[in-house]
Amino acid sequence: MSRWAAGGLAGHLAHAAADPPLVLALSSAAIKPADKLRPHPVSARLPVPAHIERPPYVDAGKDADTYSDSEQSHDAAGVAAMRAAGALAARVLDAAGAMVAPGVTTDEIDRFVHEMVVGAGAYPSPLTYGGFPKSVCTSVNECICHGIPDARRLKDGDIVNIDVTVFLGGHHGDTSRTFTVGPSAPVEAKRLIAVTERALAAAIAICGPGVRYSAIGDAIQTIADAERLGVVREFVGHGVGRVFHSNPVILHHRNREPGTMSEGTTFTIEPMLTLGSAKPLMWGDDWTCVTADGSYAAQAEHTLLVTKGGVEILTKSGV
Ligand code: MF3
Ligand code: CO
Ligand code: CO
Repeated sequence: MSRWAAGGLAGHLAHAAADPPLVLALSSAAIKPADKLRPHPVSARLPVPAHIERPPYVDAGKDADTYSDSEQSHDAAGVAAMRAAGALAARVLDAAGAMVAPGVTTDEIDRFVHEMVVGAGAYPSPLTYGGFPKSVCTSVNECICHGIPDARRLKDGDIVNIDVTVFLGGHHGDTSRTFTVGPSAPVEAKRLIAVTERALAAAIAICGPGVRYSAIGDAIQTIADAERLGVVREFVGHGVGRVFHSNPVILHHRNREPGTMSEGTTFTIEPMLTLGSAKPLMWGDDWTCVTADGSYAAQAEHTLLVTKGGVEILTKSGV
């Protein structure tokens, strides 16, 4: 989610350190896709059967208050519901990822995700959230996040992040991964995806009760710096549970924000790394976020539950 959407967070972060100097790439051609991403037609909104439970923002409309300042923890039934929502989100992401191929449109991926989620008795959380028009986010090449599925056909050499969130049994599960399309993605883009996954895994590995949330940013930034990759600062991880987005705000860059993890709390970590500039530009649709210099971006996300000894990954793939 965007840090500006996190209530009052903008002022709270006014003292955040300035961006580090840009590391200049040897050849900008190596870090940019051949064709700049452009908007394509977006298909009509897909219906959700009436028997499916909707999150409260669906009927409240575009300007609904969608953020909670409280962290979210759960009783035994709530934990079971979080596990079920996380497992469904992971299964949907695995299946959507298996669809990725040259010639497939992101609209087709959206329709597939929509039908699988609804077929499992869940609501696709992005649909109407803050006015978002589709059931999943698909972010191609230089798109950092919140890409709107449309009629563009994926091409051999593209990369695409699929970000699935489902609302099942009154709880959201939120997970994303970045996939290559066909065999021809540049080596640098493949490295970007692999390091993004590794940064997420390293951040997960340090989590547990009493650990500072800021240790997540340390873990991610340490890896990104060593690999000469940018860390996007304007989009953050978040508490997730009965509410889609809540405190804690999870910064992916090095920071000194206060707060420690408590057993039973659920939140996401979702680093966005870049080959060039980590500065985002927002399209006129008010959703699609691309890197300012058009360089590739990758993201990976899991929903986590803080446990006695560490965290449980609620959105584990392949289970
Ligand atoms: N899944 C995104 C996240 O990780 C949020 C998407 S909101 C949407 O927080 F409206 F763009 F779908
Ligand atoms: Co998220
Ligand atoms: Co997400």
